[in-house]
Amino acid sequence: MMHNFNAGPGILPREVVQQASEAVLDFNGMGLSLLEIGHRTEPFINVMEEARTLVRELMQLDADHEVLFLHGGATTQFMQVPMNLLPQNGVAAYTETGTWANKAIKEARLFGHVEVAGSSRETNYTTMPEELQVSPTAAYLHITTNETIAGTQWQQIPYTEGVPLVADMSSDILSRVLDFNRFDLIYAGAQKNMGAAGVNLVVVNKNCLGQSGRTIPSMMDYRNHIAEGSMLNTPPVFAVYVVLLTLRWLKAQGGVAAIERINNQKAQLLYETLEQSPLFHLPVAVPYRSKMNAVFTMPDAALEQEFLKRCKENGMYGVKGHRSVGGFRISLYNALPLSSVEAFVELLRYFTQKQG
Ligand SMILES: Cc1ncc(COP(=O)(O)O)c(C=O)c1O
Repeated sequence: MMHNFNAGPGILPREVVQQASEAVLDFNGMGLSLLEIGHRTEPFINVMEEARTLVRELMQLDADHEVLFLHGGATTQFMQVPMNLLPQNGVAAYTETGTWANKAIKEARLFGHVEVAGSSRETNYTTMPEELQVSPTAAYLHITTNETIAGTQWQQIPYTEGVPLVADMSSDILSRVLDFNRFDLIYAGAQKNMGAAGVNLVVVNKNCLGQSGRTIPSMMDYRNHIAEGSMLNTPPVFAVYVVLLTLRWLKAQGGVAAIERINNQKAQLLYETLEQSPLFHLPVAVPYRSKMNAVFTMPDAALEQEFLKRCKENGMYGVKGHRSVGGFRISLYNALPLSSVEAFVELLRYFTQKQG
């Protein structure tokens, strides 16, 4: 039995992997692979439409919000967002909360002025900014809802009246109930909570488009993707299909509210057990801890190696921390069963007792 704590690409429901592999061999009994049918054929158009409809339903989106499936990973969104929303002489407000926010800021600076509305640099990104300073004229406020490497998460979504809100939700999309309509633009790479690498979800309020005054290359202009139903060019068909299967799975679990309850249980069990062990250190303060990526270290380097070895022996995969932070990282994405967290905390308790 493997326990998959990878940060991304991350764990998918077993049944999704099974169904996806079947579709590669024979899609819907057509006698053809999903990989070899045209994207403009009825069977694939149905895939795209169902995926879009399920996103609308699971996120309870209103009619102003459009759902797109685009290529290029969330990293492409770091430039595509300012290209579409930030006028040449405009200002965009960004929260600086870690590696991913900084990457977004770097790209936005290519298109206009960026003001850092709040930063947690001083705490080495172990907190989230408490107060934001956002110019009322800012084209938008950008937040990274979950910092996958630092292991922090906005528990309360910051909001500035009158300033459009944009969020990178790559590592916590569909993991908790939020008022998604409050956001003018949401983007997320699929490979953590939503499916396979190769596709991004973009949810955009169409009313905020077309105001940048900039000439935008066709593939970068959200309006073209909206007009063409995410088929401006050949979409990443396999990745979109895996997203569809994962969305169907999520709906069958009871939707976002149901998965949030399990995600809360998983995070609580893990953090409580870590708190009780004198061997581990939790760098992130309680109010900022991510329910998707738990980061922790072990001050004793020799013990750290020993613990990693034990994890491996017990089929626990993806436990090692990101190279920039060290220590450990346990990712608790939607598809991770509670039983995997229970197995991990059991090992953690056993290991702690043995050292005591
Ligand atoms: C929060 C966040 N944003 C953006 C990215 C970049 O995503 P991609 O590799 O799909 O470009 C990641 C990847 O891990 C991430 O965790």
